[in-house]
Amino acid sequence: MSIQRTLSIIKPDAVARNLIGSINSRFEQAGLRIIAMKRIQLTKEQAKKFYDVHKERAFFDSLCDYMSSGPVVIQVLAGDNAVLKNREIMGATNPANAEIGTIRRDFGESIEHNAVHGSDSPESAEMEIRFFFSETDIID
Ligand code: CMP
Repeated sequence: MSIQRTLSIIKPDAVARNLIGSINSRFEQAGLRIIAMKRIQLTKEQAKKFYDVHKERAFFDSLCDYMSSGPVVIQVLAGDNAVLKNREIMGATNPANAEIGTIRRDFGESIEHNAVHGSDSPESAEMEIRFFFSETDIID
């Protein structure tokens, strides 16, 4: 087992429905530690930069409008195999396809309003963490 870090975003739909604590308890119950956290509202420009990998997709503009539409909670999670573990806890991107008991199944509303984002690999976790946090913001 290796200790990893991953980036999590609690998205505007989940923040608006007061689900921050419920979602955080899923992470903690699974053994992930929240080692950095901040509540911010992204500008559309920041959302476009963060999701640059999806810029050719039909949903890109709508995704960036949505992600900048209200407050989000950005977190660094740490633990054994944190990237994969977080992806398991989140469930499939589309809440309709996610396993029962996952965050997206229980709290997501649609493929766009799917409650949480999580890094998809250790390499993207590194880049995504750097996008939002400097090392001095992360207290492990
Ligand atoms: P996320 O993990 O934040 O990464 C990219 C996001 O794009 C994804 O979650 C979804 O919210 C969104 N997304 C992916 N596919 C679609 C789609 N077909 N239509 C709308 N949004 C999508």
